[in-house]
Amino acid sequence: MRAEELVPGFTPENELERRVVQDPELLEGLAWGKPRKAHPEGSIGAHVADLLERLDASGVQGDERAWLRFITLVHDSFKNKVQEWRPRTGENHHAMRARRFAERYTDDETLLTAIELHDRPYGIWRKMKRTGRLDRRRLDELMSRLDEPERFMKFVELDGSTEGKNPEPIRWFRDQLREWREAA
Ligand SMILES: [Fe+2]
Ligand SMILES: [Fe+2]
Repeated sequence: MRAEELVPGFTPENELERRVVQDPELLEGLAWGKPRKAHPEGSIGAHVADLLERLDASGVQGDERAWLRFITLVHDSFKNKVQEWRPRTGENHHAMRARRFAERYTDDETLLTAIELHDRPYGIWRKMKRTGRLDRRRLDELMSRLDEPERFMKFVELDGSTEGKNPEPIRWFRDQLREWREAA
């Protein structure tokens, strides 16, 4: 199937998008997935379509739009490659798999880092909820790797804005970011 069918409403807007959506590995990942609690929309392609639509509605333009669109296209598209019998960490985390894929198409480190870390705020928040303690070291590591925290936050907010997702971790992370800035 073509990207235009897997991601309803999608049309490539630049050369990079045109190239990446021709990659069979990306297409396979976009086709994958069933409706789940955090993703009632179903396939990854449907999730991507939803985010692209929200991005259109947000009115973000130019370079930032291109940046957010590229992340949107690849960030969850390698969940099908996660090996379920191994821990979902390090190279086996879907976000790291997506980053590795994106490395073949861009050397924009800010972009690659955003892909790699897109679920990290949620992960830290969830661990905090579970254990009752904030993993300060992990949060510091995340913050220090963001050289454009504002852009990163935009993607995290976009990704977290979909139906069925808890808004609490996003609010928490925005506060953390503010504190981090004020302390700097
Ligand atoms: Fe993700
Ligand atoms: Fe996502």
